[in-house]
Amino acid sequence: MSQDSHNDSPGIQKRKSDHLALCASGEVEFRNKGTLLDEVALVHDALPDRHVDEIDLGTTLLGKRLKAPVVISGMTGGTPEASAINKDLARAADKLGLGFGLGSQRAMVVAPDLGWTYRVRDVAPNALVMGNLGVVQARQMSTSAIKELCKEVGVDALCVHLATSMELIQPGGDRDFRGGRETLARLHGELGLPIVVKETGAGLSRRVGLVAKQLGIRTVDTSGAGGTSWVGVETKRAEGNAKKLGEEMWDWGIPTGASVGLLADLGLDIIATGGLRNGQDVAHALALGATAGGLAAPVLRAHRDGGYDGVVSFLEHVINGVRAATFLTGCRTPSELRTAPKVIGSTLKAWLEQAR
Ligand SMILES: Cc1cc2nc3c(=O)[nH]c(=O)nc-3n(C[C@H](O)[C@H](O)[C@H](O)COP(=O)(O)O)c2cc1C
Repeated sequence: MSQDSHNDSPGIQKRKSDHLALCASGEVEFRNKGTLLDEVALVHDALPDRHVDEIDLGTTLLGKRLKAPVVISGMTGGTPEASAINKDLARAADKLGLGFGLGSQRAMVVAPDLGWTYRVRDVAPNALVMGNLGVVQARQMSTSAIKELCKEVGVDALCVHLATSMELIQPGGDRDFRGGRETLARLHGELGLPIVVKETGAGLSRRVGLVAKQLGIRTVDTSGAGGTSWVGVETKRAEGNAKKLGEEMWDWGIPTGASVGLLADLGLDIIATGGLRNGQDVAHALALGATAGGLAAPVLRAHRDGGYDGVVSFLEHVINGVRAATFLTGCRTPSELRTAPKVIGSTLKAWLEQAR
């Protein structure tokens, strides 16, 4: 996520470094609002009648086959540190058969010589790799320029991120969000790659899901409330009244569980991101209607603590959790979780009934 009226690449690089440090620190999580994924209880099946090895977590997303319904959400690019992180995360995704998202490619728009910090195909030839660009930046660019951006890093799809709440707090952030729908329509029609409509921590409402569906877009990423607060990240970097507003709006957004549930019957492929921290969170999101779960900050922390090996180990743990939940509910595949018996708590139920 990087808006830049000032168009300076050192400014973007500094912001990217700040983002990594703040998100890894754990100081910018939502404070008083959770994902509501803990309000989903899956019903245990004591007689599953199959071998655990029969569980098949394979999932198709954006035309690629994943070995498990897990995605590393887009985080970074634009600096040497970001390049090292991108390579390790993409290599882990490739090894485990997961999806991987690049951070906003805005830095390589402003400074094309930074393209190398986003290149991961040498270490991740087969993984699902998703590019990333803000809808406001995309509006200002020609489709052919965006095509070039995608081609240069060899992505399978482009996440177009919507980030209104954080932009309001970010020093110098965007204010003009007109033309978003037209931009999505243009890219969907002309890019030649699937696009993913992605939030950045405040969640997608049913109305936005309906817009995506009407435009013919197939895939969305909820990035809902309950995990990393991007208002929180920018509040830490803001001053004066912007900081005050950020403190007030820190917990703004639709909880991830609610966002997934509100979009579940629209026929979209939903990547549930925002506050997922383990395999149970992923399984609960799948039970609410997601196709895959996405994780950002926890993967960054695993990388900080243990490098590439730490990331592989953390993600294997997440996958084991999804497998356990699938098996113990009597399901054979993650998609069967959607119809598995479940109990939904009152707050999530209220969101699903009243936020339509
Ligand atoms: C360090 C960091 C940088 C991020 N940068 C981007 C970005 O450039 N573009 C984007 O769409 N989302 C970005 N995100 C948002 C994540 O993709 C994700 O939607 C959000 O952090 C919620 O997931 P989480 O709670 O697992 O962190 C970033 C997240 C982190 C932690």
